[in-house]
Amino acid sequence: MKVLVVGNGGREHALGWTLLQSPNVEQVICTPGNGGTATLHNCLNLSIAVDDFAGIAQAVAEYQISLVVVGPEVPLSLGIVDYLRERQIAVFGPTQSGAKIESSKSWAKEIMTQAKVPTAKSQTFTDAETAQVYIQSVGAPIVVKADGLAAGKGVIVATTIEEAIAAVAELLENSGKLIIEEFLTGSEVSVLAVTDGLTIRPLSPAQDHKRIGEKDTGKNTGGMGAYSPVPLVTEELSLRIEQEILQPTLKALQQQGIDYRGVLYAGLMITPAGEPKVIEFNCRFGDPETQVVLPLLKTPLDEILLACVEQRLAQLPPLQWKSGSAVCVVAAAGGYPDAYQKGKAIAGILEAEQKGAIVFQAGTKLHQAEILTDGGRVLGITAVGDTFAEAVAIAYAAMESIEFEAMYYRRDIGHKYR
Ligand code: AMP
Ligand code: GLY
Repeated sequence: MKVLVVGNGGREHALGWTLLQSPNVEQVICTPGNGGTATLHNCLNLSIAVDDFAGIAQAVAEYQISLVVVGPEVPLSLGIVDYLRERQIAVFGPTQSGAKIESSKSWAKEIMTQAKVPTAKSQTFTDAETAQVYIQSVGAPIVVKADGLAAGKGVIVATTIEEAIAAVAELLENSGKLIIEEFLTGSEVSVLAVTDGLTIRPLSPAQDHKRIGEKDTGKNTGGMGAYSPVPLVTEELSLRIEQEILQPTLKALQQQGIDYRGVLYAGLMITPAGEPKVIEFNCRFGDPETQVVLPLLKTPLDEILLACVEQRLAQLPPLQWKSGSAVCVVAAAGGYPDAYQKGKAIAGILEAEQKGAIVFQAGTKLHQAEILTDGGRVLGITAVGDTFAEAVAIAYAAMESIEFEAMYYRRDIGHKYR
């Protein structure tokens, strides 16, 4: 079969790479893809934007695509799945109504309340004055979040009342609606689960590293590195996450009449008491989490995605995983998550791969036989090892080979591994 992957990040390179490991997949088409998918064997980029639904539908017909997989949240929240389903195209991803679990944090909170899913206490506000009164009554630290999609820039963890009030002004100006919620402490874990709308199955848990600086300091980013599995998520905790979070949330979505076939990504805080609480839901594969979860997967990915699309996930045998660990270290452009430069030549990808790493490309493009930087997060240097320590060692040894002007990466990915 031929599969079309929508998007152009490290996640989409990892999706294409994994799909092509399957004996069932002969070609992957990426719209628009990046330098990594442009140079991946049996993969073809088409320069079609992620929100050009008609262009994507046309490519599906032209290339006889059997399945479309949507990577990013923006086309999902714009209704790409509704558009393609109406045209009888098999597509993995939630409809616009399902994607609201990520595109509206206040609605996600309503679903969590309905489902009795543990999460931070919160309130929704549309005017600054009421929000300020609330902040003053509860104090800091406190978390202020824009209601809508904000490309990772919509959350401010305020350590003082003044900071929280400034955050209200800033976020209200851009989004018109915000939620203010209790500050949670503990360890963050991402659990990506696949669902066909009837059954839900968690994938191997991962831990992301959101902050730009080492020891989790500085600004929030899309994610600077990840590892999987996470020993903190024991079998017992995993079962609780399934029973207390994933299944009730799916049921609440069903009760809203939502037919959700895609990834439900639970961003969790495991409190010091060991309780899992939801920080946020996303309607898609996480990035960089996908870059460590998929290389550990033994079951062919297309079989899982098709089972979701065709609503027969319950009949699929248990997912098979490799033993060992995967680690991904992101190489970013200097300046990210603020302003950064593009168009810098990248050297050493082949050498890094010869050291045993998988180099997933994110913000890159192929230009006249050369790979150039084209975004903030540029590469995800990923390694699978028999142990976590081995995976870390391979990833960082491979990183030594990579060079581009003003390259930056965290040297402490996995520092909380336990
Ligand atoms: P989100 O986009 O909701 O995942 O938020 C981005 C990051 O902000 C999360 O990964 C956390 O590190 C932090 N964060 C969000 N909500 C909370 C909370 N209630 N308590 C503590 N940290 C939070
Ligand atoms: N790595 C965080 C996310 O995908 O939202």
